[in-house]
Amino acid sequence: MKYRTAKALREMFIKFWEEKGSKHLPSFSLVPEDPSLLFTIAGMVPLKPYYLGIKEPEYPRVVTSQKCVRTNDIENVGRTARHHTFFEMLGNFSWGSYFKHEAITWAWEFLTERVGLDPERLYATIYKDDEEAYNVWHKDVGLPENKIFRFGQDDNYWFMGDTGPCGPCSEIYYDRGEKYSCGKPTCGVGCDCDRYMEIWNLVFTQFDRQKDGSMPLLPHKNIDTGMGLERLASVVQEVDTDYETDLFTPLIKHTCEKAGIKYGDNPKNDMAVRVIADHVRSVAFMLADGVLPSNDGPGYVLRRLLRRAVRFGKLLNFDGLFLCEYMPILIDIMGEPYRELITQRPVIEQIINLEEEKFNKTLKQGTELFDSEIASLKAKNITQIPGDVIFTLYDTFGFPPELTREMASEQNFTLDEEGFKAAMNEQKERARASSKQKKSALTGDIYTELENEFGATKFTGYEKANDTGKILALITSDGRVDSVTSGEFEIILDTTPFYAERGGEVGDIGTMTINGHAIKILNTIPHGKIIVHSARLDDKNEIKVGDEVLSSVDDERRSAIRRNHTATHLLHEALGRVLGRHVRQAGSLVNDMFLRFDFTHHSPMSDAEIAEAEKIINQEILNNVALDISEHSKEEAQALGAKALFDEKYGDVVRVVNVPEFSMELCGGLHVSRTGDIGAFKILREESIGSGTRRILATTGMNVLMLMQKLFALRNSLTALLMTDEDGLKDKAAALVDDLKTMKNQIQAAKLKELLENSERFLEREELDGILIQTGRFPDIQANMLRDIGDKARARPEPNIVILASLSTEDNSCQLCVMADDKAVNMGINAGVLVKEACAILGGKGGGRKNLAQGGGREGAKLEEALTKIRELVKSQLQK
Ligand code: ALA
Repeated sequence: MKYRTAKALREMFIKFWEEKGSKHLPSFSLVPEDPSLLFTIAGMVPLKPYYLGIKEPEYPRVVTSQKCVRTNDIENVGRTARHHTFFEMLGNFSWGSYFKHEAITWAWEFLTERVGLDPERLYATIYKDDEEAYNVWHKDVGLPENKIFRFGQDDNYWFMGDTGPCGPCSEIYYDRGEKYSCGKPTCGVGCDCDRYMEIWNLVFTQFDRQKDGSMPLLPHKNIDTGMGLERLASVVQEVDTDYETDLFTPLIKHTCEKAGIKYGDNPKNDMAVRVIADHVRSVAFMLADGVLPSNDGPGYVLRRLLRRAVRFGKLLNFDGLFLCEYMPILIDIMGEPYRELITQRPVIEQIINLEEEKFNKTLKQGTELFDSEIASLKAKNITQIPGDVIFTLYDTFGFPPELTREMASEQNFTLDEEGFKAAMNEQKERARASSKQKKSALTGDIYTELENEFGATKFTGYEKANDTGKILALITSDGRVDSVTSGEFEIILDTTPFYAERGGEVGDIGTMTINGHAIKILNTIPHGKIIVHSARLDDKNEIKVGDEVLSSVDDERRSAIRRNHTATHLLHEALGRVLGRHVRQAGSLVNDMFLRFDFTHHSPMSDAEIAEAEKIINQEILNNVALDISEHSKEEAQALGAKALFDEKYGDVVRVVNVPEFSMELCGGLHVSRTGDIGAFKILREESIGSGTRRILATTGMNVLMLMQKLFALRNSLTALLMTDEDGLKDKAAALVDDLKTMKNQIQAAKLKELLENSERFLEREELDGILIQTGRFPDIQANMLRDIGDKARARPEPNIVILASLSTEDNSCQLCVMADDKAVNMGINAGVLVKEACAILGGKGGGRKNLAQGGGREGAKLEEALTKIRELVKSQLQK
């Protein structure tokens, strides 16, 4: 079979269905809009509204290659050849357009004619009563009866979930050959050994399963199909497992080199290698689609996978952070078409590193606890790990219970699942009790209670970064407490300089000190008029309600936030000037690293527009204008002409942030005192985030310098490498690309020349009933070149025929040229007939004169069959 990369197969699939009138849509997000699913588990999931008829499809036929995640069997991933969490599903869909006949016959055409799978090795299954599907397979495709298998609902009915679109399906199986068989006499299609592999599922989606189990008809007859790209690649690339395809081998190679091992030498290592390869893909793609690690939902799955990958890395003795090393490799394999891996790379890497670091901190201690527990249980001849140990590993050391279960099974231990459940329930009870405590019967929740008791927290952070205050309340998971001695809790003061997250600006962090002991402030958030500090006490030390504290905001971070916040106002105004007054703020995020500004605008900004906005803003920075911030009544502010945000709620007294003669906005955030404090401003990215809404990512101050330094370093290495200066860089690179093209052409021309000069050597010769047959097979040669080769070869003394074929390495199509010399023609040879018949076998057309004929077809795989046909015809032409 012709080798094809996974990328080529993906593209080939899309192109094929485009030719069948389908619209290609790029992959949808891994996070579905459908709340009944954690992840997109199949190509049809994002298209569900079209099946249900809730939304009219813009295109009745669609093709996708969809990113999918399935997590029902994580523990098996790595153990087997074919389990993955992340995979790509190639799918074609039809809503009320084509149905069974086309879905089946075209799937067959794709597999046998495009991909070139041997039809002999293909089998089909159908739902037991689906006579329509049987007839298409048997009569239209021509699959013999004994290659069509009927199965019941368990095998040949596809459901999206407990509810939703479903229907009978037909699956296409590929026989990988005897050597993969389990050897049982019953081994056949449907056997779960490795021989017969399901490669494509065609679902005839006609029903909508309801909660009560009933299945009303959908408005149309629909098609939903799914073929795992990884599997298809493993068949085409003729490797034993998906992990040996080009989708995985570079990842695997990196792990093996790093660990100093060879894949295939040791099953335990191999499993670790596969786990890492699989999980790295899931983790990177989830992060790229905006999933963040957390303790429930999709974020928990992400965390579990990341931690499982880290632990398997430790089994290979990997030290320190290692997961990010796979990012450039993954981008190499999949950055095209999945550009989000590239655009989101900084975020992906940052979160992976943070999360990995966090887990590394406890992994060692947790593993030690686990090992010592195993040792002591072994000594007592116990083979079950008690529930409280599993709970401690989970709660204190961050071991997902699934990970503990897996580690236990490696040691032939089981888990006391009941005991663990009990420990979890106890904790839930505690949490529930404390949240009950948090609710006060009279006043609602604990914060409202505090607000009623103490009034609003006094915020002094506009002027100060350090201030004293008194502790009014301490809150732990047990509710309001009088004192705490360790761990995480919340503090409420009477007066605080800490800014509480609001209006897109993140909350402050910093420290509070009491009698020389420091408390870390991890975040500051508002609850009504109360400012709540999330705090952590690292060393044991009692702090009590009523204590006086000295609050110190992390001022360096805050300065960076101030710069970004004022810059956001400048950007808002600059966009209005450059793009027009229709520009409205649609959202923003301001932190110490960057600012993100969402706004209404219909089209991408041009480079010139971006440059112009940057220029306006940096000019205003150079002007070093003093900001004027003052409080007013809402009416006053309006009269002044301050910009207000559409969906923001404002109190009666509002704060007006004025950059004189430039911008005036209502804003409660923190700002620089003069525009010059911003230092510098640079837009990093401008992109669409939905219809009519754009997003800008920008940065200020030292971050701009760091960016410049990075770019200069890149420039320096490029100019050194290309031996030119900055001005020459573009021309030099363009010239190199040109040279490369010329050289490729020259090489091609030289190859052809050599071929022509030595064509004799490339021809196979045989004698057939007194005539010489010369056959040549060449990769990628143009038809006129074939004629040149043929002309030369035909000039031999003996009567002869020259048969020349050129096979395209791109799409496996074939061009054919047959020439006969005069003597052969006199003996009865007709090249035109030979080519015509041969091309019919190749799935194409051809013909010509008696001495020269040409043609071709799409199915180069059938070339040998066509050549045999030519020989037979030559024999019969000679006999006449
Ligand atoms: N939705 C079908 C599947 O996932 C095609 O198998």
